[in-house]
Order: sequence, then structure tokens, then C-alpha cells
Amino acid sequence: MCGIVGYLGTQEACDILVKGLQRLEYRGYDSAGIALMNGEALNIYKIKGKVSGLEELIQGKDISGGLGIGHTRWATHGGPSDVNAHPHYSSDGKLAMVHNGIIENYGSLKQELLNKGHEFESETDTEVFLHFIEQIQKDNNCELIEAVRIALTEVVGAYAIALISKDDPNQLIAARKGSPLVIGIGEDKKEFFIASDATPIIEYTKDVVYINDEEIALIKEGELTIIDVKNTPQTPYIHTLEMELEAIEKGGYEHFMMKEIMEQPKSVADCLRGRVIAEQSHVKLGGIHHHMEDLMNANRIVIIACGTSWHAGLVAEYIFEEVARIPVEVEYASEFRYRNPIIGKGDVVIAISQSGETADTLAAIEIAQKNGATVLGVCNVVGSSIARVSDEGAYTHAGPEIGVASTKAFTAQLTVLTTMALMVAKEKKMLSDVNLQKLLFELEQVPQKIEETLKLDEEIKVISALYKDATNFLYLGRGYNFPVALEGALKLKEISYIHAEGYPAAEMKHGPIALIDEEMPVVFIATKDSSYDKVVSNIQEVKARKGRVIAIVTKGDVLIPKMVDHVIEVPDVHEILMPMISVVPLQLLSYYIAVMRGCNVDQPRNLAKSVTVE
Ligand code: G6P
Repeated sequence: MCGIVGYLGTQEACDILVKGLQRLEYRGYDSAGIALMNGEALNIYKIKGKVSGLEELIQGKDISGGLGIGHTRWATHGGPSDVNAHPHYSSDGKLAMVHNGIIENYGSLKQELLNKGHEFESETDTEVFLHFIEQIQKDNNCELIEAVRIALTEVVGAYAIALISKDDPNQLIAARKGSPLVIGIGEDKKEFFIASDATPIIEYTKDVVYINDEEIALIKEGELTIIDVKNTPQTPYIHTLEMELEAIEKGGYEHFMMKEIMEQPKSVADCLRGRVIAEQSHVKLGGIHHHMEDLMNANRIVIIACGTSWHAGLVAEYIFEEVARIPVEVEYASEFRYRNPIIGKGDVVIAISQSGETADTLAAIEIAQKNGATVLGVCNVVGSSIARVSDEGAYTHAGPEIGVASTKAFTAQLTVLTTMALMVAKEKKMLSDVNLQKLLFELEQVPQKIEETLKLDEEIKVISALYKDATNFLYLGRGYNFPVALEGALKLKEISYIHAEGYPAAEMKHGPIALIDEEMPVVFIATKDSSYDKVVSNIQEVKARKGRVIAIVTKGDVLIPKMVDHVIEVPDVHEILMPMISVVPLQLLSYYIAVMRGCNVDQPRNLAKSVTVE
């Protein structure tokens, strides 16, 4: 949540910052702003709304300067407005700062500063944070970095900050705790970039340093120095980015979401590469090695995640229990962290996160680790916080996902989790060689079956047009398709703002059935699996009450098409793999409905892709 960028170098900073903010806009789009330092003036331009508004605002203004910082906001303290937009000035106008995170003790700090005569323009915790740094520098008559360091020992909460000073046009300071921050190092150290993730940097350099929690980076006179909050020098470790620029561009599609839906055959194949070779009955996740025994002998697996990742966790629960016979619990990270969870040695936590930065998931991991559990991370973003704090893990390798509604990350998460479950089942000898190999062959065919499913695009568009004005939707499924129903409903509400609920089909009788009338579209995920007959009965119950049914069925099904209003036929596959296929039409349905309703599918209102606040 909130994206920050910074630049110090030989080029003009403005363009680089604005482009960077466009790439980070998925993190929040309540306001956008930049601060530019040109040796004489420290200019701030900021505005409520999107980066495109900022681009208009700076037309004809003084945008010179080789040093600058920028911000795209997801509002926490203070509603979206021009004044609450970042960057903020210090009271003497000499410092400018951007911040991603929340300072929890900002109320008491603000009171202290008000007593000392500070005045505040905005309602944000960030302005308080900056004035606090300013006051410390004044009181201690010290260098800015020392004031930042002292301030960081006193603030409570999460932050990634970047700040610049009018007194020093060759200095950029950044720090983090709980919110991500990466520094790009240009050729010959002539320029440095900072950003919330690597996407604004990739165009300029592949050499990056990930800043750790409670570290402060000082970029000055062509050098990057890192200290921690206790003033201990740290050695920067330079990683080489593997991401390519094309991966973060729309590639001819109107929206990132559509591009990402269409990329799924490739992302699932990338995710399987080298991990599954059915011919040799090979199934292995290289990242899980030292803790394989823990996983095999786990008392239970506790899956922790949020949002779509939590839905992937629900599918994994069914798969692990079926093929590896290990009890599984699936927890919302935000609930887990605030209970007094019973967790400890012998438990294996699987933390699933596309971004690898979700604050609640990170906090839940910390609790699990403190209590002695082993934590395996399943993340998409390489080098992300969750990937780094996990004991071991496996990347989903789906490539950057930019549309706020998660699509290809979900199918890639399912791919990794299925692979993990089969790997454990193989090691524990829970499956016969024949059955294991059969499943691995089917898993290898999933990319091709997703490809086939994507061809239903036009058909789904026609159905979307019929239901685009609906005010409610119900999604029903059983077994492996129950989490798919939840995910289908989530996709629709996220991007089209239509109220939608996902339910286990049999539970419908305990409430949602009261909602059914001829106005109510009901999406059944009714593929041929062990609960097929039961789902058929549930469809009849809905039809008896005049509900309008859209059914996702297995190709060749002759029964359901006779009963329902619309069918979408997907290729047949083993039931444990079906969610990877059956979710695809639901992604397309929500996409088309949202587009037809004129919604901004890549940046739905109020949402952010990376939720770095709790
Ligand atoms: C946000 C995103 C969702 C995502 C969820 C969890 O709500 O909009 O798409 O599923 O966070 O994020 P994570 O990065 O941990 O998977």
C-alpha cells in the first residue's frame, strides 16, 4: 500500500519519478506527488487522484533537478486530498519526505510537537514523522541521517520512507521497517533509484539491494551506505534482477488483468518447469530441502494467507489432506495474529502471498516462528519480505502481477501447492507409483487445458453482456470447487462492485436460498467430480425457485446443459487440478462484466494490490 520512488543521479529526476509512480500505481491511487531538488529550490507538486492528474499539474512548472522523491497513496490517516498527499515538507520547508506505512504513536508525537510550536498542514502521520525528524535534528544539532536514526528508535509502526534535504542536493536517505524498499544502483554508481518494488527500477538497472527492516540507507556522492537503527554498519548485498521490462508492460492488451489472465498457460508452465517431470515421476520443489522432513512429519499444516491467496490455501487444504494425509487448517492471517493461536514445534506453516509483503501475513509468520513452527513461504515477488523471513519456500514464478485483482498468481499458487502436496505424498509413499505418475501427467497438461479454456473468451463475453446489470450474484461449488466459488465471487465484487457471495453449494439451504428469484444469477461450478451428483441436486433446487443459472461444466456433460440457462464447458481434468481450470471462466466473466459497466478493472476503487498496513 502506497508506492514510493526516489532518484539521485545525472539525469533529470522528474520523468523517472513519474514513470516510476505509474508502475507503482497498483499500490494505491488516492493521490500522487513528487518533490524535486535542483540545487536551489525544493519544489513539491502533489494532487488528489491519479498519477495522470500529477502529470497535468506539473505542466509548465519548474521540474528541474537530479534529485527527487515521489509517492502514490492509499489513504490511511486523513482522507484523499491535495494536502494529505505526499511528499510533505518540514516546518522550515527544507526537508521533504514520502512514507509508506502507519506510525501508530503519531498522536502523542504530534502533541509533543504542537507543544513545541509545530504547525501541521495535513492530517497525516507522515507529516508528524517528518517534523519529528526535523525537531530531533534541531535539538541535537546533528547530521540528517543521525536524526532519522534517532527518530526511528522512537516511532512505533511500519514504514518505508525516503527523504531529501534542501541543504544537501547530493543526498537521498531511505529506511524501512515492515514496508518494502529496494535500491537500484546504476552503472558506475552514477545514479541510484529507490522504490517500493523493482518495477520502476528495471528499466535502468538490474543491480538492486533489498533493504532489511530497521535499516537506513544513505546515498551520497556516488556511494550507498547502510546502517541499522543501532548505528551498526551493514554490508549491502547486490542482487541481480531477473525480471524483464516486457513483463511489466501491457503488451497490446487494454488492461493488465486481461494480459495476466491470458498469460496463465505460460505462468503455470513456468511454475512447473524443472519441478515436475511426469515421465520420470519426478516432483520436487528445490526451495524446500532442509525442511522436507518437517513437512513430511508435520503434526499438522497451518496455511496462513489473505484474500485470493487464502482461497488458494483452501484448495491446498483439500489436496494435502487427500494425497498426503496431513491435517490442514487454513487461517486468515489477520485473525490468526490477534488470537492466542496454538502453534509450535511440529507444526508447519505455509504462508501464501503474491506480493510477499502483506502486513498481516508477515505478523502471523513472526508469531509462528517465535513459537517454534517451521514456516514455508509461497510467494510470487522474488526477494519480498515473506520470501526472506520464511525458513524455506517456493516461488510461484508467475512474473509481475499488476492488475489489482489477482489472477495468474492464484493459478500459480495452486500449481506450487499441488506440487508440494504431491512431493510429500511421494516421499511418504501415500500414492501408488501409477497414481502419482498419472497425476503428474495431468498436472503437466494443465497449461494446455487453460489455453483451451481461454478460447471460451467470446462465449463468456456474450453471457457477461446479459448479466452486467445484475445487482447480486451467487457462486456455488462443492469440494475442490468451493474455494473456486469464493474466488469467483471475490473477483466480481472487487472489480465490478456487484455484490457477490460464494458459498458451499449445500450450505445454500441454510440461508442464501432465500435470496433466489428470477433476478438472481447463480454461477455453479459443477464439473464432473466426486460431488457432481450432489451439485446437480443443488442446481435443481435453484431452478425450482426460478434462479438464473450459469454452470461451469465438464466438456461432454449432457445432463446439466438441459437444466440451466447457460453452460460454459471446460476440459476434463482430475478433480484436484480442476480449480486451476474452473477459475479461468470466472476471471473472464468478472473482467467482461466490469469492463461493460465502465469500471477501472486494473485499479478498482478503495483497493490496493499490496496491503502493507494491517
Ligand atoms: C489484496 C489484493 C488481493 C490479494 C490480497 C493478499 O487484497 O488486492 O489480490 O489476494 O491482498 O495479498 P498477497 O500479496 O498476500 O497475496
